[in-house]
Amino acid sequence: MAEAPERNLALDIVRITEAAALASARWLGRGDKNAGDGAAVEAMRNSFSSLPIDGCVIIGEGAKDKAPMLANGEHVGSGFGPKLDVAVDPVEGTNLLAFGRPNAISVIGVAPSGSMFDPGPSFYMRKLVVPGEARNVVDIDAPVHVNLTHIAKALGKSVADLVVFVLDKPRHKDLIAAIRKAGARIQLQTDGDVAGALMATDPRSEVDIMMGTGGTPEGVISACALKGMGGEIVARLDPQSYVEKEAIQEADIDLRETLSTDTLIKSDDCFFAATGISGGDFLHGVHYRANHAVTHSLVIRSKTGTMRYLESYHNMSKLSKISAVQY
Ligand code: FBP
Repeated sequence: MAEAPERNLALDIVRITEAAALASARWLGRGDKNAGDGAAVEAMRNSFSSLPIDGCVIIGEGAKDKAPMLANGEHVGSGFGPKLDVAVDPVEGTNLLAFGRPNAISVIGVAPSGSMFDPGPSFYMRKLVVPGEARNVVDIDAPVHVNLTHIAKALGKSVADLVVFVLDKPRHKDLIAAIRKAGARIQLQTDGDVAGALMATDPRSEVDIMMGTGGTPEGVISACALKGMGGEIVARLDPQSYVEKEAIQEADIDLRETLSTDTLIKSDDCFFAATGISGGDFLHGVHYRANHAVTHSLVIRSKTGTMRYLESYHNMSKLSKISAVQY
């Protein structure tokens, strides 16, 4: 029997990412990443309070950088409604925002309670993200040129056509050399591998693949979006210091396990929303006009696989009279 459509929580959580983007975009290019992040955290925390969910923050970005955070374990929402695991990144790409670079976004993912991977003390994860057509041909242990050859074939392209998103970090020197040797093209960005993962899966983007080591929380958030976009992440924890490695082992987390979209988010009933803060080719940034601020968001419901791009016009004079958040 056909199911009647249920509530699409992504359409609720996008109001929260919009609020965080509106609050933090005021800090674009002003060189103060903590102020931008703090504004987004406050806006998110405020906006969550009226959401009819019983949410628990599993991924609260900030611990690695000692940034202001919606803490792990914090309860969000009204306390009434579905029990959910919540992943938040009020500003994904705090330096992108602080230095006025593209692709800073505000993101939230939610999934049924108990279904979201808890990274514990793990900060870094090696990731390979591909569109749905290439989901079964990648192997995190295979050499770079082998993965690129298989992905190109699955996408009906040649390796020379591919664009690989890589974070521009010293740790990626060998990876970048291997991609170049294989003949693929590269989009290097200083930060923002959630946007990289989304671009790798979004048919509108020129990026085909994301490779390299980035944040573990960002990997879980990306998986939440990939569930609905049909892409795949294969990943493995990749501690960048002895202290991190020790902490992971002490927490009894298996460092050798290959993680997939389905192990990072065990449910097929999750929701994701992202709003652009600084404009990129993926989402536009916040645009302030005389009376309105315009935001651009992506909203995903995994159960149906529906992706929506939303352009919202916020009436700032009305909002300033009723909103607890300062925009
Ligand atoms: P922040 O928003 O916390 O600054 O994260 C930005 C980011 O580039 C992520 O997209 C990425 O996963 C991670 O940092 C990489 O960490 P690092 O900058 O320490 O290499």
